Amino acid sequence: LLDEAEIRRDIERLRRERNAVILAHNYQRPEVQQIADFVGDSLGLARQAACTDADVIVFAGVHFMAETAAILNPDKTVLLPDERAGCSLADTLTAQDVRDWKAAHPDGVVVVYVNTTADVKAEADYCVTSGNAVQIVSALPDHVPVLFAPDKFLAAHVARETGRMLDVWDGACHVHAAIRIEDITAQQEAHPDAELLIHPECGCSTRVLQQVPDLRLYSTEGMVTRARASSASSFIVVTELGMVHRLEREVPGKTFVPVAQTACCNYMKMITLENICESLRDLSGQVTVPEPIRRRALLPIERMIAIG
Ligand code: 13P
Ligand code: SF4
Repeated sequence: LLDEAEIRRDIERLRRERNAVILAHNYQRPEVQQIADFVGDSLGLARQAACTDADVIVFAGVHFMAETAAILNPDKTVLLPDERAGCSLADTLTAQDVRDWKAAHPDGVVVVYVNTTADVKAEADYCVTSGNAVQIVSALPDHVPVLFAPDKFLAAHVARETGRMLDVWDGACHVHAAIRIEDITAQQEAHPDAELLIHPECGCSTRVLQQVPDLRLYSTEGMVTRARASSASSFIVVTELGMVHRLEREVPGKTFVPVAQTACCNYMKMITLENICESLRDLSGQVTVPEPIRRRALLPIERMIAIG
């Protein structure tokens, strides 16, 4: 068995030999974030994937993120070091679901969250992330019905911010849906001066907003920007646990308290230094998208990347 220092050295060597870039989501393990070339939210990662000149993209994230990189880069090798790294939210919606939904609302515009499969994106008009969903929906003409999928809690946030009625799919992320308002209040009692950083995928965000109406919700990258700009010195981080590490690295001198140790995405944590190293060595875990699907999924993704 190699020790961690040897694995890091092997990753460095293989990264150079393969002309590879390692892109990591904010929910990745601390040691994975530390070796990545870029760490960010879904929007930032998609933008990095769109502009890289590397030959190989190692995606330290989940399957839909690697698929998005593959859609943007048909001629590059995109690797997901553990192919089981899925997403409970993406699993709530199939391409056939979208086709049936559109058939029932033929004049509707389909807006899907980036947390969807390539097949689903191929059926969509627009793709959004938590970082630009409000901007994209508010730019749509007032009269068109908007079919928003699959996250019902992000949809509630978008409806509130844009003042629009949305037709909403009944999906949620198992990690964010399980965060309870009691988890937040327990941390607020322990840290009364801490500011709340809440992700719009959280099921409890509507109830928190009833109590604190001027509270803003943030994508994971939005949390970094807010923590830097805020006069607060401590924050309760209401999203997946990995975010705390990113915030601690980016905003030194401030304190970040995870809302609950249970807010952990088992899919994100499947990526390790070991499987990144193996994947770079063997070019294993290649993610590809069939060309007819890729071509149709590209336009909604390009729209997503261009806005926000
Ligand atoms: P963002 O990083 O885009 O805010 O998304 C959160 C998430 O759940 C990704 O799976
Ligand atoms: Fe999917 Fe939720 Fe994990 Fe993000 S945190 S990858 S939405 S299951």
